[in-house]
Amino acid sequence: MLTTIGNVSAHVGEQVRLGAWLYNKRSSGKIQFLQLRDGTGFIQGVLVKSKVSPEVWEAAVELTQESSLYVEGTIRADKRAPSGYEMDVTSIEVIQQAQEYPIALKEHGVEFLMDHRHLWIRSPRQRAILRIRSKIVQAVRGWLDGQGFTLVDPPVLTPSSCEGTTNLFHTKYFDEDAYLTQSGQLYMEAAAMALGRVYSFGPAFRAEKSKTRRHLIEFWMIEPEMAFVDHEENLVIQENMLTHLVRYVLENCREELEILGRDPASLEKVQGPFPRITYDEAVELLNREGMEFTWGEDFGAPHETKIAESFDRPVFITHYPTEIKAFYMKPDPSRPEVALCADLIAPEGYGEIIGGSQRIDDPALLDERFQQHQLSREDYAWYMDLRKYGTVPHSGFGLGLERTVAWICGLDHVRETIPFPRMLNRLYP
Ligand code: 4AD
Ligand code: MG
Repeated sequence: MLTTIGNVSAHVGEQVRLGAWLYNKRSSGKIQFLQLRDGTGFIQGVLVKSKVSPEVWEAAVELTQESSLYVEGTIRADKRAPSGYEMDVTSIEVIQQAQEYPIALKEHGVEFLMDHRHLWIRSPRQRAILRIRSKIVQAVRGWLDGQGFTLVDPPVLTPSSCEGTTNLFHTKYFDEDAYLTQSGQLYMEAAAMALGRVYSFGPAFRAEKSKTRRHLIEFWMIEPEMAFVDHEENLVIQENMLTHLVRYVLENCREELEILGRDPASLEKVQGPFPRITYDEAVELLNREGMEFTWGEDFGAPHETKIAESFDRPVFITHYPTEIKAFYMKPDPSRPEVALCADLIAPEGYGEIIGGSQRIDDPALLDERFQQHQLSREDYAWYMDLRKYGTVPHSGFGLGLERTVAWICGLDHVRETIPFPRMLNRLYP
């Protein structure tokens, strides 16, 4: 039976067998130190020349970076070791002597690393990010499940758009035209009418020609949708979900945050209630700060960063002009030129991580929007049905996973937040 490095604390003083890769190695002539990793952690294997057979000693001498092996030895607690434990190696069984590894233990350019993404993910930093990504999903899903939400999976191939037609990914669906989903929202609205509170977790595709640190072509979204929930309550739910998420990472990913050099202090400030400003106030703030901005435009990354600088925690920007937002957003009844919507802007320049709104529930107004946005009534007939058969006030939002991971991990680009990023100029590996 194999033990894992993550589990060696339960085997101090025992002889164990690990399956591992050689991460690094150094030698003092009479002693060799093998840095071993197995996916669950790192441990140093120690070989003393006078204590092992010449075959085992030679096998260790020959080991190249990323060679795979079974290794046996005794686990010893050692306060000086980063993991707290070391292994006194007694035998080595090489599975494969790896060829010269392209990602040597030195600095490499980003393009080179991206070309070798399939190998790059083995590095401690990348592993830490992928573990935090997994924990974030666990946190959000656990929270939603605990709040009585039901997971519903919307389709990936869709006949029409959700977030505007400019960045749809087109494909053929036999003889019909189809698009990769931009968002599961419209289907989640149908599901909310069936199950009350629902959420989806899946990929979204946007053929965006923007090459920024925040945009991916393929990204993952968590999209809760709730019947009988209005704009106000929608914000409270987002706040509670996000504070839970951050606390969960702080409690479960200390080691990973440390590997990333992420100071937890700024994350510890993420407590509700989050500040809220209206779009109008945000425009004023920008102009006051010397960034010329006209009412009716949409915020770009520099604007969001500037707004976020005034706050030490995520900030909601509410009531955007209806004109610049999606067709389904409910206008504010007291001021129809703005919508009952909010974007949640992360601190430290990470930009919008959540977009959400109350949805139009009135069939006549929805029909008007179809015309204004030149969306075919026929394509959206099923969606209109939701307003014909027991329409109710309802709201929802989408949390972008990669931007959330980038913020929590303190990364300067979303490309490291997903195992195999799809970007404007990258479909490989
Ligand atoms: O603001 P968006 O476009 O909203 C929607 O898709 C709604 N239908 C969600 C809903 O109400 N159910 O996208 C939501 C979030 C953004 O806040 C951002 O975090 C992320 O998805 N996002 C992207 N992340 C990476 N790359 C892109 N190209 C992204 N576009 C949006
Ligand atoms: Mg948005």
